[in-house]
Amino acid sequence: MPPADAIFPPGFVWGAATSAYQIEGAVTADGRGESIWDVFSHIPGNIIDGSNGDFACDAYHRFRQDIALMRELGLTGYRFSIAWPRVFPRGFGALNPAGLDHYRRLVDILLEAGIAPLVTLYHWDLPRPLQSLGGWANRDTAARFGEFAHAVAVALGGEVHDWVTVNEPWVAAFLGNLLGAHAPGLRDLRVALAAAHHLLLAHAEGMSALRAEMAFGDRAGIALNLAPVEPLGDSNADAEAAHRFDGCLNRWFLDALFRGRYPDDMLAWYGDAVPEIRADDLARISTPMDLLGVNYYTRNVVRWQPGAQPVDAEVVVRPGVPVSGMGWAVDPEGLFEVLTRLHTDYTAPPMLVAENGAAYPDRLVDGVVDDPERERYLHEHLLRVHRAIETGVPVGGYYVWSLLDNFEWAYGYSQRFGLLYTDFATQDRIVKRSGHWYAGVTRANGVRG
Ligand code: FCB
Repeated sequence: MPPADAIFPPGFVWGAATSAYQIEGAVTADGRGESIWDVFSHIPGNIIDGSNGDFACDAYHRFRQDIALMRELGLTGYRFSIAWPRVFPRGFGALNPAGLDHYRRLVDILLEAGIAPLVTLYHWDLPRPLQSLGGWANRDTAARFGEFAHAVAVALGGEVHDWVTVNEPWVAAFLGNLLGAHAPGLRDLRVALAAAHHLLLAHAEGMSALRAEMAFGDRAGIALNLAPVEPLGDSNADAEAAHRFDGCLNRWFLDALFRGRYPDDMLAWYGDAVPEIRADDLARISTPMDLLGVNYYTRNVVRWQPGAQPVDAEVVVRPGVPVSGMGWAVDPEGLFEVLTRLHTDYTAPPMLVAENGAAYPDRLVDGVVDDPERERYLHEHLLRVHRAIETGVPVGGYYVWSLLDNFEWAYGYSQRFGLLYTDFATQDRIVKRSGHWYAGVTRANGVRG
């Protein structure tokens, strides 16, 4: 790589991210229980290519080789998640020590490799028995999550210094319980709003469970999927739809976490679908965090669409705008806007870009995967992170989604996000062109400006 001239601060973390169900496979190994994703992915019609996570990338068995590849990429951080049903196969009650041992080994080998773990506690794999009790619509699930968080913190607390409680509560609540696209596959606004509130309560329970075990300097926070929202046209209806969509996606969570209240306009819009909110819920939810994970993929352009759940708004792509394999608009400037908004409107704590990346239809040809689009995508987004830092926004690290091609939820294996190409027939990993490029970035601690 030619010399970098957009240099990042010393100690900036160069990472990549994954999550348990998307990569581990080994769904019955060492006493693992079932999660809602095991159930959902096995129901015909739910996953675009009829696949599931039974084998995925077999990372449960191959993590040593994967960590060797992380070293080749020059990573200094790795974000992964702990499968709750490996630790508590029923979600609560009897702990499964073998499940925790797996993560102890993973963390040990990461540390030996000089790679700092960033551990996510909930990346959507709710234990099946808890769904039978109502899942996230049941307030008690947040307390069960607190117990799980505490058990993990006790086991890994000395070695793990950075924690994410919950990944993307918006996605878990709305795609899972309103739009039926993710597990548990429900379509009910009341359930989705209850889930959203209880996921934030779970975050609060997780924060206090972690705090009880954390050492000075350890950090914990949440990871949110955030995006700038703008109206498609200049009609009032589009403008109002965009404001509501911003309320649903961004403000609902940010106002609760940083201001201790839900936005009035959204409370009015949801009306009696809003769940019971107890007196000190929002005080607990807004307990200060040490870090904020920002997951960014695209800007959301919105038009008024009466009946579109939950806010009469439909996300569209402006004609002519380049899109990734997911059909998402490629919009690096949006990342700068999100980071800046968090800093100025919400005085967010130090931030990590905990996910950023793009799917493209990669092909392995003669042992090579040539993915210039992904390289460009990452490069452009990193330039915006750099600019944000230069203007005083505290961003301490960047994690590419994803380390390797994996089970992309409802899209199965049809969308490849990796820096490493996964050959799912052989489980070989091949460093893509973008991976070689990223290795140059991590070593230079910067990109070409
Ligand atoms: C995020 C998820 C992650 C992955 C990427 C593409 O919403 O957190 O697991 O699916 O999108």
